[in-house]
Amino acid sequence: MSRGRSPDAGPALPDVPVDLSVEVCGLTFANPVLTAAGPPVRDGAAILACATGGAGGLVAKTISRVAADVPTPNMAEIAHGFLNTELWSELPPEQWLKRELPLARSAGVPLIVSLGYTAEDIAWLAPRVRPFADALELSTHYIGEDPGPMQDAIRAAKDAVDIPVLVKLSPLGRDMARAAEHAAEAGADGLVAINSFGPCMAIDLETGRSRMGGGEGYGWLSGPALKPLALRCVYDVARTVDLPVVGCGGVSRGTDVIEMAMVGASAVQVCTAAILRGKGVFGKIAREAGEWLAAHGYTRLDEVRGMALGSPVPGHVAGPPVLDVDLCNGCALCEGSCVYDAIHVTGGKAELDEERCENCGLCITRCRPGALMWSPMAAVLPA
Ligand SMILES: Cc1cc2nc3c(=O)[nH]c(=O)nc-3n(C[C@H](O)[C@H](O)[C@H](O)COP(=O)(O)O)c2cc1C
Repeated sequence: MSRGRSPDAGPALPDVPVDLSVEVCGLTFANPVLTAAGPPVRDGAAILACATGGAGGLVAKTISRVAADVPTPNMAEIAHGFLNTELWSELPPEQWLKRELPLARSAGVPLIVSLGYTAEDIAWLAPRVRPFADALELSTHYIGEDPGPMQDAIRAAKDAVDIPVLVKLSPLGRDMARAAEHAAEAGADGLVAINSFGPCMAIDLETGRSRMGGGEGYGWLSGPALKPLALRCVYDVARTVDLPVVGCGGVSRGTDVIEMAMVGASAVQVCTAAILRGKGVFGKIAREAGEWLAAHGYTRLDEVRGMALGSPVPGHVAGPPVLDVDLCNGCALCEGSCVYDAIHVTGGKAELDEERCENCGLCITRCRPGALMWSPMAAVLPA
């Protein structure tokens, strides 16, 4: 395994025997963990702190023509996730141009400026932020499902600037593959998938009211609960269009980066984990991803990219799970949730009744020490 070059921007990551740098739309990021638009990048000082925290690339909070008037309360941690009803930046574009973007630029880490929303907004904003931006990211969150306004916004950006234009797709009732095709058709250079999902709701038991202020009390979901949806969306767009994809949604540890890469992402963005755990999380996630790659004999993230795209979707896996008795710690999690009554722990070790086992796979996903697994010899039959 080769010793890769170490990241050349942001704080030093511990020496892992992989090259964590990635290339997206011609930009080189020192590691694949970028910020996502949100509170951790709400102004120039916050963006600098994300760079110090190890982010491989910086995406600023979405700027629009008019500062957002955000309802309160607007953020809540919920089980396995997070709800918010923030809009775009509460700072006016003039302040971003004068103070926040020059400060963010001084980090020396590639800076992607997020803009919203209409073609008119973009035509006004894009040339003004251009001196500070290595790329633009267009938010499509508030422009509806009709592809027309999104395509107009992309064309306005492409007409205005000579830097890559990434389009961030929202999973709101959209056919993601079609949305990706529409974005590509209008000239997008890359895609970011996905924005938060909703509307959703969380209730404060003590008041009997929604935890989110404003309007209907709706909130938008992010964090770990969003990850399965984000993975599916990245998977759908990565196999539909020939554009680089940045995965976003529920990334909170190194293996999430690997999963995102396996469904086709070239890099990832992180928002909620940085809100909940602080800005050092970017470097930590990057380091964990590097450690996973090293432990599995890879030297670059690219080597696992798209792995899940080519593999057949298993219909039926022939053969029951196999048990590595040495790894089994007798915890009986498998026994307790085997709906076919096919596993029993005796003498501190699990035993599998192959006659009863229906190959559902649940025990494999619940086994904490990794003692249960599919046999490498198991045949994958057509669905
Ligand atoms: C409080 C909050 C504010 C956000 N603001 C923006 C925004 O201004 N523009 C945008 O494109 N996405 C925004 N997002 C969405 C995030 O960038 C990201 O797409 C989403 O939260 C999923 O990633 P995560 O699970 O890592 O948070 C926001 C998310 C949160 C939680």
